[in-house]
Amino acid sequence: MLDLKEVTLFIGQGDDVRPLLADVSASFPKGHFGAIIGPSGCGKSTLLKVITGIAPGEEEGAIYWNGRDVAEEDFAPSEIGYVPQFSIAHEELTVRECVSYAMRLRVRKLPAEALEEAVGTILREVSMEEFEDRLVSVLSGGQRRRLALAMELVSKPAILLCDEVTSGLDPQSEDEIVRLLHGLSRTDGRVVLSVTHSLRHVELYDSVLVLYEGVVAYHGPPQFLTHYFRAHDAQDLYAQLALRSGKEWAQSWKKHRQAFVDSKDKQGTSKAITFDSGEADSAPTVEIQPEKPPAASSLPGPGAISQFFTLLSRRSKIFFRNHTQLALQLGLIFGFPILVAVFAWNGLPSVKNLSMGLDLDVVQQLVEAKEFLVQASKVGSLVSGIVMFQVILLTLMGANNSGREIAAERLIFEKEKLAGLRPLSYVASKAVFLGFLVLAQSLWMGIFVHFVCGFPGDLGTQLVFLVLVNAAMTSVCLAVSSFLGSAEQASLVSIYLVGFQLPLSGAVLALPDFLGVLVRPFIAAYWSWSGVLQTLKGERYYDIVQMVVQTALSPASLCLWVLGSHIVIGFFAAWIGCQRRNLV
Ligand SMILES: Nc1ncnc2c1ncn2[C@@H]1O[C@H](COP(=O)(O)OP(=O)(O)OP(=O)(O)O)[C@@H](O)[C@H]1O
Ligand SMILES: [Mg+2]
Repeated sequence: MLDLKEVTLFIGQGDDVRPLLADVSASFPKGHFGAIIGPSGCGKSTLLKVITGIAPGEEEGAIYWNGRDVAEEDFAPSEIGYVPQFSIAHEELTVRECVSYAMRLRVRKLPAEALEEAVGTILREVSMEEFEDRLVSVLSGGQRRRLALAMELVSKPAILLCDEVTSGLDPQSEDEIVRLLHGLSRTDGRVVLSVTHSLRHVELYDSVLVLYEGVVAYHGPPQFLTHYFRAHDAQDLYAQLALRSGKEWAQSWKKHRQAFVDSKDKQGTSKAITFDSGEADSAPTVEIQPEKPPAASSLPGPGAISQFFTLLSRRSKIFFRNHTQLALQLGLIFGFPILVAVFAWNGLPSVKNLSMGLDLDVVQQLVEAKEFLVQASKVGSLVSGIVMFQVILLTLMGANNSGREIAAERLIFEKEKLAGLRPLSYVASKAVFLGFLVLAQSLWMGIFVHFVCGFPGDLGTQLVFLVLVNAAMTSVCLAVSSFLGSAEQASLVSIYLVGFQLPLSGAVLALPDFLGVLVRPFIAAYWSWSGVLQTLKGERYYDIVQMVVQTALSPASLCLWVLGSHIVIGFFAAWIGCQRRNLV
């Protein structure tokens, strides 16, 4: 039995607090198929979110599932299946892959054959087996809804909440889905609640809950719906509703609700709802729900490591399927190093030794010194510039790697979290996937520039600093992505972060002392630049770079520590950001 007791939800702050739902009470016994109807904006989706535990705002009242308080007790995440109003599945995957990944993320590991078989059964159940190899991106509205249902069914939820899964469908597809939902409510004692605007097949529902302005205007058998609202037919109901305010409907319902005998205990645990019409004294008492079999036992979830590998496999598949993204990545990996190398395509100019010979006269010494300074300044700027250019392009790739990574699939992630996905497995899978990108980008950049420009210094150490700066930016932008609400916002902030790197690094213009001390710890580009330049120690280039740049270089070990901390803090913050609920 799913029991809603005076559920109220407030939204807003200070003087702006207003209820989205007020005193919503209703009971749905096992094996129940309920419709939730009402005009647009009356709170139907919000009510489903409250039951699911993902509603925004302050809640009052209580929700019980089989006598257990949903808010206070730990529920197996798979006990509640929620099919949201808008389709959420990765567009690059096929129907079968979506269901298969959903199953691997939500249900304890099955042998490959059993998994395929279980996926096949679910696809048959929702009549999607003939589209199993089709990409989500080309599915029709009805097929997407069925896919969303299939993805919920993998964990055999005991409560299935569907938000407008029939909206926008042709009558035949609508019929099929309503019958499918009806059938699902008749197996395993499952409670299926469906938000709908359509009153076709109203007779298939065991009860209809009418919401109006956030309050319950009616909850009872469909047969008495028109009678209660004095409507000619189901379609006329909305016109009737508009004749009174929500408050009035709520009062009227409170009065007539007395006539509904809910929770009539039958044989100990099983419950039934009976209806006695409030408007017509003569209306018969109709028992709408007989005793049902016990609720579906939800399946145990997979371990953290299994979820990690599933996510990694899915992320890689999506990466290789998305040809635009792939082409962009290849373009960056191979194009950016060329952009750097053009500045010293034929190698760095060597620095002429200052002879400082005593045999030269003073004028000659001055001329040589001036020549040296001019040349040193050019070469020093070139060496420092080549390093900084590489570093900045790598931070740009880092921001591009992860700025959208979480924000762009936040709704999918939130749904999966609801179904038991661990944020740690999620962030770890992102770290490993992005790690491969970072390695490919940074190693190729370092090696290419080293050999094409004949860049001096120890290549191995330089590569370490180039990998670290990319990883640092990738990890910080992943954190940004985990905290922001949309992919656009997240990538904009990530690009701003890159924009600050060059001016605040002090590599081009020295910063005022106080500003340098203040901002330097946060500027990954400085630490990588400084770290790479330290590898030139002992070479002539090192001295002339130090002559040219006005910002002091830091020791390599300190650079390693700071960049390492950026990476660790970034991923830690991303993990915190993923734990927060971020669903509108
Ligand atoms: N996070 C939120 N913050 C503020 N207001 C919200 C929020 N979520 C929903 N609302 C408001 O609550 C009301 C009910 O929204 P809800 O989405 O539940 O409506 P609905 O009945 O599902 O409508 P529809 O049939 O159009 O889907 C709307 O006025 C909506 O603007
Ligand atoms: Mg809605």
